[in-house]
Amino acid sequence: MPRVLDGVDLGAWMLEVGPGPGASTDLLRHRVQRLVALELEEPAADRLSRLYPDGNVEIVVGDATALAFEDDSFDSVASFTMLHHVPTVTQQNRVLSEILRVLRPGGVLVGSDSLASVELHEFHEGDVYNPLEPAAFLVRLQTLGFDRLTIGVHDALTFVAHKPASQ
Ligand SMILES: C[S@@+](CC[C@H](N)C(=O)[O-])C[C@H]1O[C@@H](n2cnc3c(N)ncnc32)[C@H](O)[C@@H]1O
Repeated sequence: MPRVLDGVDLGAWMLEVGPGPGASTDLLRHRVQRLVALELEEPAADRLSRLYPDGNVEIVVGDATALAFEDDSFDSVASFTMLHHVPTVTQQNRVLSEILRVLRPGGVLVGSDSLASVELHEFHEGDVYNPLEPAAFLVRLQTLGFDRLTIGVHDALTFVAHKPASQ
């Protein structure tokens, strides 16, 4: 995860979607002034709220396909190992559109997700598993309106994508 953050200006206000148990949250909270972490599952959000009772992290229960934040609210948005948990491409695109909406002009989306594999498919037996296909994901980001895109394919898929500075 730190690799995708290298050299990226995250600004002061960040939104993280899908913090889960909080491994990514724990790294991100040191990189920004204020971190809002939005989690779909209430028990996971409760656990995180207990981990961060004060300080610069705010845990919010919510659905990333319909963000309850104003347009242009955040300097950066992080999505780590979250998008493959979103059941359909349409819903994933909704998450990405919502991220674009709440980013300020020039703001940045950073993230990573696991690459498709038989092992992960088996690991997610009975659970949602909708992995991103890197080339298609690049086109999706660009079509939805992001610019200055960087996609990396290593042991995982990494991505950095900006909201255009002016629209
Ligand atoms: C694998 S965990 C993420 C782990 C964490 N980001 C990390 O890298 O350590 C994925 C999380 O995304 C959450 N999630 C899935 N769909 C979501 C949605 N529509 N809105 C918000 N969170 C969602 C799941 O509940 C789960 O906790």
